[in-house]
Formats: sequence, structure tokens, C-alpha cells
Amino acid sequence: MSATDYFIHPSAIVDEGCQIGAGTKVWHFSHIMGGCIIGEGCNLGQNVVVSPKVVLGRNVRVQNNVSIYEGVLCEDDVFLGPSMVFTNVINPRSAVSRKNEYRQTLVRRGASIGANATIVCGNEIGAFAFIGAGAVVTRPVPAYALVVGNPARHTGWMSEFGHRLHFDASGIAVCPESGERYALQNGAVRKLETPSI
Ligand SMILES: CC(C)(COP(=O)(O)OP(=O)(O)OC[C@H]1O[C@@H](n2cnc3c(N)ncnc32)[C@H](O)[C@@H]1OP(=O)(O)O)[C@@H](O)C(=O)NCCC(=O)NCCS
Repeated sequence: MSATDYFIHPSAIVDEGCQIGAGTKVWHFSHIMGGCIIGEGCNLGQNVVVSPKVVLGRNVRVQNNVSIYEGVLCEDDVFLGPSMVFTNVINPRSAVSRKNEYRQTLVRRGASIGANATIVCGNEIGAFAFIGAGAVVTRPVPAYALVVGNPARHTGWMSEFGHRLHFDASGIAVCPESGERYALQNGAVRKLETPSI
């Protein structure tokens, strides 16, 4: 891959030894550290830090002022809202080294994390989950779940297009934008196959 396959703003710093996918853009004052992997078509806003060993999939959107620490993995199509916060040490003490105790945070495909939310490390964010603005996530979040507040509580379900899902008595909901159908069964949501015509 040639250096022209992606865009790095002149004020950004990209260390040796990182991989950046074609079509990715890195904006003002951001710092991409060696040993991270960033997929194709990502957008990293202003003042974003990507630490070593971080992995971002394709089309990950990172808004301004987000630091993505070692231990974080984001799958394709993840949205990280402005100034949201990851963590990687559960019990930090300045005088005690915890560099071998990072807890992983896996953000599954299509999940969105709202502005100013905090993700306490060691918690998986399920596919297409939606974390409301300002939430503090202290537990794993199921796929398609909407959680808000501090501590974050599960208040509903969201479609892949980002709309509330209202399930009928038989446990079926339809996304008002895409028309896609979802089933709620045993406390978990899955998207139903669209019948082929
Ligand atoms: C959660 C969210 C998707 C709204 O969902 P919604 O279904 O439209 O929710 P509503 O506005 O109808 O609010 C429903 C209830 O949830 C509460 N609520 C909504 N967002 C909330 C949040 N982030 N934290 C806490 N409570 C919230 C509302 O106060 C309301 O409470 P009430 O029923 O007691 O009055 C939205 O508020 C949100 O946080 N979006 C993220 C925006 C963002 O960070 N964007 C970043 C890119 S700019």
C-alpha cells in the first residue's frame, strides 16, 4: 500500500510501525502510535490518540478528543462519539505498575457510543448496541441494546439504523427506516432474514 492511499493532516503524528487502511483520514493534532492497526475507510477526528496494539476495523468513525488505549478493539462500522472515554486498568494506582493487567474492551460491529460516555474496561459492547450520551458502562452490553445513565441501565433496543425497536406481543419489531424485522427471544434480539422474492 502506498502512502497516498490514506490522508494524514500535516499536524497529526503517525509513528513508525502502524498499519493504516486505504481511504482512512486522520485529522488535526491526532497521534497514531506504532503497532496499531487501523482498517480501511476510517475517520479519526481532531485530537484522537490511538495507542499501540489497538485494532480498529473498517469504517470506524472516531469523533474529536477520543483516546483509544491498548486493550481496545473496535470491529467494523463502530461509532465513537465526541470525548467518549475508554479505560484499560480497573484499579489504577500511580505508584503501582499495572501494564500487564490491561483488561480488554471489545466493541462489536456497528455499535455506537454516545458523546462523553465512559466504558469501564473489561466489558464487551455487543453488535449494534447503542450507548447513550454520558453513560457510564460498568457491565457487558448485549447486541442491539440501548443503555443510558450512570451506571448505564438497559432501557430498550435499537435497530441497525439507530431507531428504537418496539416489540409486539409476539416479540417482533420493525425498523421504521429500513423496514427490517427483529425478534426478541429469551432476552436477546436478532435481525430476521429478509425473505427473498
Ligand atoms: C439515548 C438517545 C439515543 C435517545 O433515545 P430516544 O429513544 O430518542 O430517547 P428520548 O429522547 O425519547 O428519551 C427517553 C428517555 O430517556 C432519557 N434519555 C435520553 N437520552 C439519555 C441519555 N443519554 N442519558 C440519560 N437519559 C437519557 C430521556 O430523558 C427520557 O427520559 P424520560 O422518559 O424520563 O423523560 C439519545 O438521547 C442519545 O444519548 N444519543 C447519543 C447522541 C450522541 O452522543 N451523539 C454523538 C454524535 S454528535
